[in-house]
Amino acid sequence: MSEELQKGLEGVLVSESSLSYIDGEAGRLVYRGYDIDDLASRASFEEVIYLLWNGELPTAEELSAFKSAMADERAVADDVLDTAAALAEADEKPMAAIRTLVSSLSAEDPDPEAEAEEATLESAQRKGRRITAKIPTVLAAFDRYRRGEEPLDPRSDLSHAANFLYMLTGEEPDPVAEETFDQALTLHADHGLNASTFTAMVIGSTLADLYSAVTGGIGALSGPLHGGANQDVMELLLDIDASDEGPVEYVERRREAEGWRVPGMGHRVYSVKDPRAVILEKKSEELGQSSGDPTWYDMADAIESHFEGAGLVEEGIAPNVDFYSGTVYYQLGIPVDMFTPIFAMSRAAGWIGHTLEYQAENRLIRPRARYTGGKQQTFVPLDER
Ligand code: COA
Repeated sequence: MSEELQKGLEGVLVSESSLSYIDGEAGRLVYRGYDIDDLASRASFEEVIYLLWNGELPTAEELSAFKSAMADERAVADDVLDTAAALAEADEKPMAAIRTLVSSLSAEDPDPEAEAEEATLESAQRKGRRITAKIPTVLAAFDRYRRGEEPLDPRSDLSHAANFLYMLTGEEPDPVAEETFDQALTLHADHGLNASTFTAMVIGSTLADLYSAVTGGIGALSGPLHGGANQDVMELLLDIDASDEGPVEYVERRREAEGWRVPGMGHRVYSVKDPRAVILEKKSEELGQSSGDPTWYDMADAIESHFEGAGLVEEGIAPNVDFYSGTVYYQLGIPVDMFTPIFAMSRAAGWIGHTLEYQAENRLIRPRARYTGGKQQTFVPLDER
């Protein structure tokens, strides 16, 4: 057995997967062989979920059946809404709230017999569809409760993206907002074995059910080194806006004083600009131009240009997916602390896809730690210590 320690499992191969491929040096991301640019601009989020879970793009008929099956699953039981209301009342953080709410959804699953061990792919996908369809509903309900408003029933005539924005704001989004949000969902749907996907897979490898895997994924995504960075970026920009300093001055002061890491910059896998950031940057710029307020795009762009000028981008400390997604969501009127839950809403597709793919050829994931503690301690009873 190898004794070589790979802290953070960096570069360690733990399984085979055909869901997504990242070329970190070329700045390329593909889902099931299809370039992320094509999928973001030409496929709907539902089409991308179908692709991730089934390995092939759906026909028009298959997509229509998949979309309506997803839409039929959007509503949640009153008990779940009551939990959302209680969490809002307790001022719970949104990521913690959806972690709890997704976990609670298993109580209303009509397919309790479909435990992973004997589940068919079809029944497991049904469960996955149910979870993916309901996350926007519980998230929007939680946000409305904390604003003192009643949740809105999901609408089955709207796309996954449009229905979420409708349930959140009470208004049907315009086509630009719907398309932008749909693209953002596609861009966040999968990304190899990142920390949250690996967490979901580890849970799935014990043959636990998908609710446990997705709930674990949400927990892992909530940290600032992973999904939490998109909120941190927007808070940074708001902080700069409220200060007397320019973006470059502000960032450099904090980097020098605290050895601070700029959120949204750097990536474990990409050594160049993240291809998702390239697409979201364009969206952020377009939204700024159409609203006539380019403040947020300009500020982010100034920080990126500074990193470029200082040679940091060349060293791989380049914008990642979170750097521009925050400015996109903010310009769509989404509350800042909902950014990471929205990431979860999309990444659930990847968590489920990877968990089901791994379970099909399952082997319990069980690494080891090199033991550095004592081995010959003599036990001293409590009253003698
Ligand atoms: N700002 C400034 N410097 C950064 C940086 C950032 N965002 N990210 C990395 N660096 C620097 C580190 O300080 C380190 O420099 P050093 O060798 O002089 O100490 C060097 O780059 C390598 O960093 P390392 O910690 O080895 O990279 P990593 O692969 O472990 O970290 C991240 C990857 C994503 C955790 C890291 O880039 C980061 O913390 N980014 C900000 C948070 C973020 O955006 N997370 C979302 C990721 S999608």
